[in-house]
Amino acid sequence: MCGIVAYIGEKEAYPLLIKGLKRLEYRGYDSAGVALLNGDVNVYKKKGKVQELVNHAQGAKKNGTLGIGHTRWATHGAPDDLNAHPHVSGDGRLALVHNGIIENYALLKKALEKEGHVFHSETDTEVLVHLIEEIQNRDNLPLEEAIRIALTRVVGAYAIVVLDKNDPNKLVAARKASPLVIGIGENEFFLASDATPIIEHTKKVIYLNDEEIAVVRRSGSYDIRTINNEVQAPFIHELDMKIEMLEKGGYDYFMLKEIHEQPTTISDCMRGRLNADEGWIMLGGLEEHVNRITKAKRIIIAACGTSWHAGLIAEYLIEDLARLPVEVEYASELRYRNPIITEDDVVIAISQSGETADTLAALELAKEKGALIYGIVNVVGSSIARITDAGSYIHAGPEIGVASTKAFTGQVTLLTMMALSLAHKRGTISTSYFQQLLNEMSNIPKKVEKVLESNKKIEYIAQEIKDKPNALYLGRGYNFPIALEGALKLKEISYIHAEGYPAAEMKHGPIALIDEEMPVIVIATNKSAYDKIASNIQEVKARKGLVIAVVTEGDEVISQIADYTIEIPDTEEPFTPLLSVIPLQLLSYHIALMRDCNVDQPRNLAKSVTVE
Ligand code: G6P
Repeated sequence: MCGIVAYIGEKEAYPLLIKGLKRLEYRGYDSAGVALLNGDVNVYKKKGKVQELVNHAQGAKKNGTLGIGHTRWATHGAPDDLNAHPHVSGDGRLALVHNGIIENYALLKKALEKEGHVFHSETDTEVLVHLIEEIQNRDNLPLEEAIRIALTRVVGAYAIVVLDKNDPNKLVAARKASPLVIGIGENEFFLASDATPIIEHTKKVIYLNDEEIAVVRRSGSYDIRTINNEVQAPFIHELDMKIEMLEKGGYDYFMLKEIHEQPTTISDCMRGRLNADEGWIMLGGLEEHVNRITKAKRIIIAACGTSWHAGLIAEYLIEDLARLPVEVEYASELRYRNPIITEDDVVIAISQSGETADTLAALELAKEKGALIYGIVNVVGSSIARITDAGSYIHAGPEIGVASTKAFTGQVTLLTMMALSLAHKRGTISTSYFQQLLNEMSNIPKKVEKVLESNKKIEYIAQEIKDKPNALYLGRGYNFPIALEGALKLKEISYIHAEGYPAAEMKHGPIALIDEEMPVIVIATNKSAYDKIASNIQEVKARKGLVIAVVTEGDEVISQIADYTIEIPDTEEPFTPLLSVIPLQLLSYHIALMRDCNVDQPRNLAKSVTVE
């Protein structure tokens, strides 16, 4: 949520900042801005996408080898030019970009107003830059010291980068609960919310920790201290990411590219962890804590959005196969109720970004209560990956489309392997069934490829739905979370209201909505409840609903009743979600495209939600 990028070195900063902001646009795109230091501080800000900023700054003075940039997802104050970052101190000396929320900004603002500070925006961020200015000027302090003192007075979350007109040879950055990465080049530094703007310049990065302040200098030197002024010895990581992963690679949209990458990303997730020929599964994170996890009294899964849907599938998988009780919680709810979590519990956080504020906070709570905390994360080096006791990366590569697709199937693949491994270790499934499941699991990437061949047919079906105001998604068992995920995908990117429901629950409410205007998408591949689903479809048809059914290849019954069917290959029931979600991703994609929606950057959404 909000993207920060900054540069100090020998090159012109502006083009680097703009390119970096475009890479970070998935984090928010309400407005964008840059501040460039070239004797003066030149600030350009504009409502809308980064391209609007580029148009706005055309012809203006943009030279300078030090600069900061920001792309915003509005929290405090409307998304307009005034509220856009960077924000500048009253004396025009400091410019600051911020990701996060300063919770006590109103109190601070009142006190600063008494001192004569005048504010021009409605943001919490402007208060922070004035607070730093006040402290700096009162005692004539170096910037980093003024920032350090200011941050001890701030309640909330922040990643900030600040430039000082009077000191053109350094940038100061700090973080708490919002990510910040420092890229170390040859006599140059890049600072950013994630590594994507950095990767084409250097592979050497430092992930700033909470309550750390970094000073990077034009001379190439840098230092990091805590807000308590303790010097830190940072660890330099080597990035393992290729620039092609950040490009569209011939596809019109990142979402379409990411949908098509799934055969590969699912394979990558299984590589070195599952070997059907030799009959084993090995997840490093799980092996490290094998006793505690296999003997856990309960597994609690905390996540948000699409990751929460992956968690629901894990509940079915782990209870069904490994016979361990599982609870799945919205992280935002778990953290604010008074949950019973004990040392005998294992709390698993699922997160693509590894930065979701609520998920992070839920994990911290679980850690305090003594539970083992396990992260299932995509972004390497992210906050969740770093605070957990153990974990597994899903290895899906950067996901840029705001609507999650390949990260979801990566999470489900990982959780499926986890359930299989736990089941095997706990002896809750027979060796022959374990082997049968391993064999089938290794066929999944090929089967996903097969599902993707239905793209044209799905595009045709999308025509039928594109002008409808509502849609209902139904599924049972393993496919109930897929109904939720299908509905979420549709509303996220096409702005059609959609609901996911357990198929049998339809008669307790949603059935009242069904008429010829209501498309009902039914995931009807379950072997265990096949007849029941067929009856649910009859109930919809009796009320003239338009039925689109996802069925197993060769299905003869439901294909007679439904208006349209999309076939997926037969598989073991626990693995169905990995196949049945694919047509629903494609369906949303095509509908959104037909409605002229921005598929990769849907309105009001952001990919990395670092505020509560
Ligand atoms: C945002 C994204 C979703 C994502 C959710 C949780 O809402 O738009 O795609 O599922 O955050 O994010 P996480 O990174 O924790 O999986």
